[in-house]
Amino acid sequence: MAKSRVQFICQNCGSVHQRWAGKCDACGEWNTLVEEGTSGGIGSGPANTRNARKGRPVVLTTLSGDIEDAPRIISGIGELDRATGGGFVRGSALLVGGDPGIGKSTLLTQAAAALASQGHRIVYVSGEEAVAQIRLRAQRLGVASAPVELAAETNVEDILATIADGKRPDLVILDSIQTLWTDLADSAPGTVTQVRAAAQAMIRYAKSTGAAIVLVGHVTKEGQIAGPRVVEHMVDAVLYFEGEGGHHYRILRTVKNRFGPTDEIGVFEMSDKGLREVANPSELFLGERHAKSPGAAVFAGMEGTRPVLVEIQALVAPSSLGTPRRAVVGWDGARLSMILAVLEAHCGVRFGSHDVYLNVAGGYRISEPAADLAVAAALVSSLTGLALPADCVYFGEISLSGAVRPVAHAQQRLKEAEKLGFGSAVLPLGSEELVGANGSGGIGAGAFQPTELADLVARIAGSRRSRVDEQD
Ligand code: TYD
Ligand code: MG
Repeated sequence: MAKSRVQFICQNCGSVHQRWAGKCDACGEWNTLVEEGTSGGIGSGPANTRNARKGRPVVLTTLSGDIEDAPRIISGIGELDRATGGGFVRGSALLVGGDPGIGKSTLLTQAAAALASQGHRIVYVSGEEAVAQIRLRAQRLGVASAPVELAAETNVEDILATIADGKRPDLVILDSIQTLWTDLADSAPGTVTQVRAAAQAMIRYAKSTGAAIVLVGHVTKEGQIAGPRVVEHMVDAVLYFEGEGGHHYRILRTVKNRFGPTDEIGVFEMSDKGLREVANPSELFLGERHAKSPGAAVFAGMEGTRPVLVEIQALVAPSSLGTPRRAVVGWDGARLSMILAVLEAHCGVRFGSHDVYLNVAGGYRISEPAADLAVAAALVSSLTGLALPADCVYFGEISLSGAVRPVAHAQQRLKEAEKLGFGSAVLPLGSEELVGANGSGGIGAGAFQPTELADLVARIAGSRRSRVDEQD
């Protein structure tokens, strides 16, 4: 039977459906199925199978051999190089995703200018902005004199013909993938079929010539244009540029990297002259701390290879609702419920008639279970109204049995805390790495290492007694 000519493709995850439906079965998003023709679609194979030709043998080669260029091009923007794992890799494709307006074009303009000034050939193709707009941005960033080659174009064939002219570019930036279209696919620009076909053509170019390419992709809430998800598996590395509305800093997070670690972050601050690197993020996320306020605990976290200190704030207030509220910003809601349950079951702390709000300072997002201990400390502190010591950091995982479990990199976390002037720590027992540091004293020496969460709760509650004693 002939294959039907029409299919419905989810613009969020790219799964193919034979019939239209309100909800995509694969990713659960609503209103994302769009009708697209099948011809030219990626995965449907070459459109014309009738003139199929006999295969041409390719030359097989060996693992050893000469590599002409340095395999990476380093921008010199430290936070960007960190996130890419040490610079852009030649012959690779990198996807930079993020919400519209977050600063993707700004970041890449700065990177392009930095690289071009070093003598690399950099081509910046914008499908979203006119040349004049890009020039205006470059002036604002103070990089207008950098020899970046600029074009406003959206057709893939035209772009390929343009960059084939002259010396092979070292880096080609395509802003954005959603505006590109190729003659090979007959869907509208921005649909899954077009985005995939255009990305594939550009990736093929990168692999065959050794130029690095960067694809910019907007994250979309409405399924009207295809999101970066549909090209994530095709590219070598995926970076997401994130930020919270109202905050000035931005985090470049590595989600996938075939040539480097995937848990790195780069931190930037958006200023009126573009993005500025933030070499020490802890200072940013700690912000202005008010020493004696109950409900705040400093978590010593890790982002990839880098320690980051961030303040966790809890507010526990009596509730007038039948089902008290649990609201979380910057952390996992299910994990909060778990910590509350452990506190109730093993430590005798009751939250049943209280609303609980948890916030990670500065709009930062934590994914590490090591934050459990800091969260528990902040919750107990807010409930009892007893402020935690201002110079103390917390980290450790809490198990359902109420035990405090060791986490990795205890040494590095403590070192960062010490560097920023913290004098004490609460951390799990059994972080053996600590032994070496203790010899020289420091923050590790006076650390409190509970085995049970109840020990920490008792210590916080006990601070009330010692304070009363002081007053006597
Ligand atoms: P942009 O890079 O155009 O975002 P994207 O490409 O991700 O859509 O950034 C746009 C925002 O950044 C815009 O709201 C203005 C702001 N901005 C600054 O605050 N300072 C600057 O120097 C520049 C160039 C932009
Ligand atoms: Mg842009």
